[in-house]
Amino acid sequence: MLEWRLLGRAALVSGILVACGPGSESGSTPASAPEPAPASGSQAAEASQVSAAATAEAEQIFATRCYTCHGSAGAGDGPASASLTPTPRDLQDPDWQQSVSDEHIEQIIQYGGAAVGRSPAMPGNPDLTAKPEVVAALRAYVRGLAPR
Ligand code: HEC
Repeated sequence: MLEWRLLGRAALVSGILVACGPGSESGSTPASAPEPAPASGSQAAEASQVSAAATAEAEQIFATRCYTCHGSAGAGDGPASASLTPTPRDLQDPDWQQSVSDEHIEQIIQYGGAAVGRSPAMPGNPDLTAKPEVVAALRAYVRGLAPR
């Protein structure tokens, strides 16, 4: 399913062009990326207070961007997942959930896998660096994938 991958790349590149202009390659150049959002502590406090609008936008983003690789429920079984090495992990796994910080999840969503020592197959979303509340809502969404 190479097509999906290319499609993803194309979408990512156009996202970069629209959102940030040239010179803002996602993931691979963390040094030139905008500074991450502030202290994890204050962000965690914000987590419960993300607006309904941000939550709705996050859900929509997951269902359109993230699901292609991660699957609609985050199990790692999206239509493009088979073409990836490594394949996306199961985001529902409680052990994985415990192993990562909220900040890590927010970083990988914005800057991509390569920026945080994970697979570069996880693309950054440079358009979201200007939307910290949506990033927080996406992180909350990812957290919500775990069984309770
Ligand atoms: C082109 C395929 C692709 C897309 C699109 C994608 N991911 Fe990923 N994602 C990956 C791969 C591959 C990994 C690395 C393997 C792993 O850790 O699961 C990953 C890893 C992750 C991780 C785990 C990071 C870790 O350190 O363990 C999270 C969380 C994540 N992605 C969230 C998202 C969210 C949220 C979106 C949508 C904004 C998204 N991904 C879009 C492929 C993708």
